[in-house]
Amino acid sequence: MFKKIGVVGFGVMGTQIAQFFAQQNLEVVAVDVSEKTLKEGMEVIKSGRFGLQRLVERGKMKEDEMNAVLGRIATSTDYSVLADCDLVIEAVFENADLKLKVLKEIDAIAGDAVIGSNTSSISITKLSSAVTNPGKFLGIHFFNPVQVQKLVELVKGLLSDEKLVVEIKEWFIGLGKVPIVVNDSPGFATSRLGLLLGKEAMMMLQEGVATPQDIDIGMMLGYGYSMGPIETGDLVGLDTRLRIYEAMFDATKDPKWAPPKLLVQLVDAGYLGDPAVKPGSKGGVYEFYGQERATQVLRRLGLRK
Ligand SMILES: NC(=O)c1ccc[n+]([C@@H]2O[C@H](COP(=O)([O-])OP(=O)(O)OC[C@H]3O[C@@H](n4cnc5c(N)ncnc54)[C@H](O)[C@@H]3O)[C@@H](O)[C@H]2O)c1
Repeated sequence: MFKKIGVVGFGVMGTQIAQFFAQQNLEVVAVDVSEKTLKEGMEVIKSGRFGLQRLVERGKMKEDEMNAVLGRIATSTDYSVLADCDLVIEAVFENADLKLKVLKEIDAIAGDAVIGSNTSSISITKLSSAVTNPGKFLGIHFFNPVQVQKLVELVKGLLSDEKLVVEIKEWFIGLGKVPIVVNDSPGFATSRLGLLLGKEAMMMLQEGVATPQDIDIGMMLGYGYSMGPIETGDLVGLDTRLRIYEAMFDATKDPKWAPPKLLVQLVDAGYLGDPAVKPGSKGGVYEFYGQERATQVLRRLGLRK
């Protein structure tokens, strides 16, 4: 259906999305604001925690395949490279004003393309006001790590073309993903629930109820989560989490979405999340508390692969 994919924003999600599509034999062009970010992003794709090098080391990919995947990803700071894309995915910071500005720029260059936003929470109908053809705009919400997670949440804005959403759903199934389709509403289906759990876990840390490791192991072994809420926050990025709470609060004015104080303080102090996925971060909650991640503990005990 789509042959050339544009990815705008080459951070945690943009790099994973680019890697996923390139591994599916599709051509990808990625845009970000600085050459430094683009270079770091390519490094994460090659050698990061979910990168190609690890697949080579585990015998799941040959070295020449890795080079071919890397060769399918071009990067630029110039939006004009998006001109001949048939699908463009926006993955910049979770901020409505920034996304509206970026979407206008994408629309001006790749107006015929289908445009999807990877927003975690912001109204798709609101974002669609930035593009000429809102029928060809929808939420395409990937899950971290995109290379591993099967889920993709397709979000229909008020004006998204129903037939197109069905076609895109089928296309993703062909790429091995399991799409769910939801209607536009703050936080959609997944973030709305995940954020509440994440917030309560942070409040428990603030109150000294338990350590990050014990909270996460409790939810993993007690409730069958593959990763606990604190470790998930570290993986998402604490700065990104904070922006998502702020966007949810802006959209709903509901105090339940006010960001927890500890999260704000950690971000202010430079703790932006797991350094293995977030270049330049001092660490996540686990590094701040000096603990081994719960998934590692369970792996050591032979309870996780
Ligand atoms: N981190 C996650 O686990 C996760 C999961 C699902 C969805 N999301 C969503 O994906 C989006 C991106 O999140 P992230 O975690 O990758 O954030 P990030 O901070 O890692 O990356 C955002 C990138 O956008 C770039 N950017 C900012 N302004 C730009 C512009 N004008 N043009 C081009 N690039 C620009 C930044 O330089 C940065 O590299 C957000 O909407 C977030 O809510 C995140």
